[in-house]
Amino acid sequence: MSILDKHGIVERNATLLLVGSLAVVSIGGIVEIAPLFYLENTIEKVEGMRPYSPLELAGRNIYIREGCYVCHSQMIRPFRDEVERYGHYSLAAESMYDHPFQWGSKRTGPDLARVGDRYSNEWHVQHLTAPRSVVPESVMPSYAFLKTTPLQVTNVAMELKANRTVGVPYSDEMLQYAEADMKAQADPNADTTGLEARYPKAKIGDFDGDPTKLTEMDALVAYLQMLGTLVDFSTYDDAAGYR
Ligand code: HEC
Repeated sequence: MSILDKHGIVERNATLLLVGSLAVVSIGGIVEIAPLFYLENTIEKVEGMRPYSPLELAGRNIYIREGCYVCHSQMIRPFRDEVERYGHYSLAAESMYDHPFQWGSKRTGPDLARVGDRYSNEWHVQHLTAPRSVVPESVMPSYAFLKTTPLQVTNVAMELKANRTVGVPYSDEMLQYAEADMKAQADPNADTTGLEARYPKAKIGDFDGDPTKLTEMDALVAYLQMLGTLVDFSTYDDAAGYR
């Protein structure tokens, strides 16, 4: 009796086939899953990453509320055309503090993972207010109301705390100064030494062009201006060599 003939026994016995299949699939599963329990962290750490400042986090919430992700992705794929257009491909660590992440796959508009520093604050305000006034063929809707909607400054610390619960390393000090930091970041006259120590590379200024009011436009533009600016890719050891 050859080995193939013996296989016939398994094929004619449903229970035996089921038990055998389960055994084979389990071995494959264990080989793939077990190492994950022994790795300290499945995300490679990258220098420069920090939690969002309270103002940036508020802007991120507006981004999610307004459904910007329906038309914009935030993940540069490691392909030459993507990298030439948008910059260094996205690293997993760059979205390690995102809950939920905004990778996406729908691109009616361009990827926004590295849009920070690409335009001026004024450009963003003008574009969000009347997209077709700067890009005539744009199909992006207007978000002019953000400029007149005051930013909610209550429960800022609770927002940070909720993120801490899911693993974002916000310190007690960050929670304590949450509200003050949020206001200071959009105020060019504020003392921002504490803010800058807590959130290195934070962009500071009057984002919406109206220094008298803290609006949702301030928060959204602060968020857009920091996207992709935390990691310094000029010193990043790029093993894949796409650049
Ligand atoms: C209906 C789809 C749609 C939605 C929703 C949308 N956008 Fe856009 N967006 C576009 C298109 C198309 C472009 C390219 C043309 C242009 O610049 O207006 C664009 C361009 C942009 C740009 C310029 C990017 C670059 O690299 O030139 C930014 C920034 C931007 N959008 C931010 C946002 C934000 C923030 C929101 C949510 C408040 C949003 N978009 C919602 C379609 C959309």
